[in-house]
Amino acid sequence: MTESVSTQQQLRTPVLRRSFRKPYPAAVRAESVYVWDADGKRYLDFSGSAAVNFIGHGVREISDAMAEQARQLEFVHTSQFTTPVAEEFAQELLDFAGVGFAGGAVYFTCGGSESVETALKLARQYQVEIGERNRHQILSRQQSYHGATLGALAVSGNRKRREIYLPMVREFEHVGIPYCYRCAFDCTDNCYNCGQQYAAELERAIEATKGAAAGFIFEPMSGATLGAVTPPPGYLQAVADICRRHGVLLIADEVMTGMGRTGRNFAIEHWGIAPDILVTAKGVSSGYAPLGAVIASKKVVDAIAAGSGAFLHGFTYNAHPVSVAAGRAVLRCLRALNLVHAADSQTDGTAGSALKVALKGLRELDAVGDVRGLGLLWGVEFVADKRTKAPFPPEKNFVGLVRQACLRRGLLVYPMQGCVDGIAGDHLLIAPPAVITAEQIAWAVEQIRAAIKESFVH
Ligand SMILES: Cc1ncc(COP(=O)(O)O)c(C=O)c1O
Repeated sequence: MTESVSTQQQLRTPVLRRSFRKPYPAAVRAESVYVWDADGKRYLDFSGSAAVNFIGHGVREISDAMAEQARQLEFVHTSQFTTPVAEEFAQELLDFAGVGFAGGAVYFTCGGSESVETALKLARQYQVEIGERNRHQILSRQQSYHGATLGALAVSGNRKRREIYLPMVREFEHVGIPYCYRCAFDCTDNCYNCGQQYAAELERAIEATKGAAAGFIFEPMSGATLGAVTPPPGYLQAVADICRRHGVLLIADEVMTGMGRTGRNFAIEHWGIAPDILVTAKGVSSGYAPLGAVIASKKVVDAIAAGSGAFLHGFTYNAHPVSVAAGRAVLRCLRALNLVHAADSQTDGTAGSALKVALKGLRELDAVGDVRGLGLLWGVEFVADKRTKAPFPPEKNFVGLVRQACLRRGLLVYPMQGCVDGIAGDHLLIAPPAVITAEQIAWAVEQIRAAIKESFVH
């Protein structure tokens, strides 16, 4: 037996884990921005797990609300009942999403992928209801991520996560995504013109469907795949205008950026656009329960209500009372602690602005090519050569080394590879809970600085 096979066997457990090659510490407790493992080691959660936790860990009010709901009514099926908690939270979410969603409705799911699947089907049914039966294609972007289920994977552009499943999915057109650090155009105007060129590419793709495009799904800010890349000025406004002119529903995937993470209730507010469907998860329950939400505008809901009268979709666990109770309590907490403001990196004195300043200090390191982001969602991109922006060879797994060094120092970060072309390119995603203090941020960024230096000489 070779050594590597025996190591793999040692790492086998009854749980089918994400990797057989990697040991996972057992987490046993968490509070505020810290997680403890079974050996008593403390980790500062600088990635909110995977951009999930926004209100901090271990908030008693949330577990109390969940326990109370479970005691009163643990579950009913949505084909038989609604519940007060779902009705109330749906209205609260519509209000949180802003005037663009007044008179709309919310479909609750168990997470991001289910929400994306729901949104894709909702867009299709909307088109059928208004008599556009040929519209069935959903356009999306390269280097995007919309989830792990087959429909969500079909509209995703994350090469590594899709590759082996491609023969199983039905694909529509993926258009280019603006990525200003590695802009494909020679921009001298802060990428305004290239944004317009990317928008024009979408318009050409819609026209090429010859009237079959039902919707366009996009992340307002790139999440894991590119690492907190913000769109160039004018781009999203142009995209929204193109979709409207062509009768294509605009679907904003705010699974990662939603619920305050970027310093606005939803990231779309930074660019003043109003999608027809808004998809959220992660922060909606801050990880306290599996929960996602599809927030549909009045236009979409009216078409189904006045048409066939039934959304042809359903999961056993949609609008699960305990998950919805968790979401309601999280939103109450988020409001009481003013956490959307805390996340705002454009206002001095907030956690968001402390994070921005601290991370930008990493730019002086040889291995750091770019630091970008908004609010409490940031990406740190690594390069082997700062002048040419050449990435590290993927097999070096530079970001994996940085992650390991951070872990040894008691810091949790979110490492990703593939930002350059789906395979090469290393970056860290940073997305701490909004209750983090300036001191904790300063400590965490110092650990990252030391981890990068250690890994660079490796
Ligand atoms: C933008 C985006 N959409 C969808 C998903 C899928 O969500 P989930 O992992 O909850 O299914 C993710 C997950 O990271 C995401 O970042």
